[in-house]
Amino acid sequence: MQNTVYVLNGPNLNLLGLREPEIYGHTTLDEIAGMLEDEARKHGLTIDMRQTNHEGMLVDWLHEAQAEGARAVLLNAAAYTHTSIALLDAIKAITTPVIEVHLSDPNTRETFRHVSYVGMAAAKTVEGHGADSYRIALETVASGEV
Ligand code: DQA
Repeated sequence: MQNTVYVLNGPNLNLLGLREPEIYGHTTLDEIAGMLEDEARKHGLTIDMRQTNHEGMLVDWLHEAQAEGARAVLLNAAAYTHTSIALLDAIKAITTPVIEVHLSDPNTRETFRHVSYVGMAAAKTVEGHGADSYRIALETVASGEV
């Protein structure tokens, strides 16, 4: 098994830092990537951080994570979390552990965010800690919890 952790980000997360900062904070995705790389290095892990606005790309990357023997996937599928049976099936189709990540806590927001197809198959969910959700999720991989 590789020491690489895929960190896959879905739609609109390229605008993190600018986008609804009162909900998602001021930290950009690049800053999160830098923070994760520093954290991963301490544990002998490597981060492969990506973002796409396209659902099928996330499916392809989940398959790739399995094919490449990634240690785990941190997945913030953003709005596709709440709509995508294709992502649910992709997570079920691979044995690579997937940790669902959200900056906000979708359960305390609009009711349409209370359903998570990703969460139905994810090994764990970390949400509601802002940018720190990613770091906490990485720690669960580094500690061997996931
Ligand atoms: C999000 C929560 C989703 O409901 C929303 O569609 C996002 C971001 C989060 O990280 O808090 O785009 O995944």
